[in-house]
Amino acid sequence: MAKLGIFVGSVYGNAQHVAEQVEENLASQGYDCELFEDAAVTDFTESDAILVVTSTTGQGDVPPNLEFVYSDLKDEFPLLNQKPFAVAALGDSSYDNFCGGGRHMHELLLELQGNAVADMLEVDAIETLEPENDVVEWVNGIKDKLFAS
Ligand SMILES: Cc1cc2nc3c(=O)[nH]c(=O)nc-3n(C[C@H](O)[C@H](O)[C@H](O)COP(=O)(O)O)c2cc1C
Repeated sequence: MAKLGIFVGSVYGNAQHVAEQVEENLASQGYDCELFEDAAVTDFTESDAILVVTSTTGQGDVPPNLEFVYSDLKDEFPLLNQKPFAVAALGDSSYDNFCGGGRHMHELLLELQGNAVADMLEVDAIETLEPENDVVEWVNGIKDKLFAS
């Protein structure tokens, strides 16, 4: 069965919690997932499908625990050969670069020739106190595309 790599970028734990809920939900349905909090490039290349759940920090930046692999992916530029991927971005629309971290990841995975199975999901901290509900529901709507291979 295809294996989904769930890649987390989180500063204070919100995105981490969301990613754990997504993993739990998918695992309870029998899907094969692995959560990466400190990923390497090979974790991206060896997963059959990629789900990024990331917040934004600084001025539209990816969180520190994702920034090394983000920059390694840019440097090494491993082509993903239409590997299915999706990005769920947690942000706060009171900041200038709303969901900038997620947008950076989404754009990079497109440049690496991944296959975006959905538009990036933007979850606004101003609008929801329970981002895990939005993201779990969204992932359930696209899981057939992520696990298609
Ligand atoms: C110092 C700081 C900078 C932030 N910068 C942005 C930003 O540029 N754009 C955005 O959409 N959200 C920004 N946020 C909001 C966070 O992304 C949001 O609160 C998110 O839920 C935090 O999730 P985390 O606990 O997983 O890091 C910022 C938050 C902090 C504390």
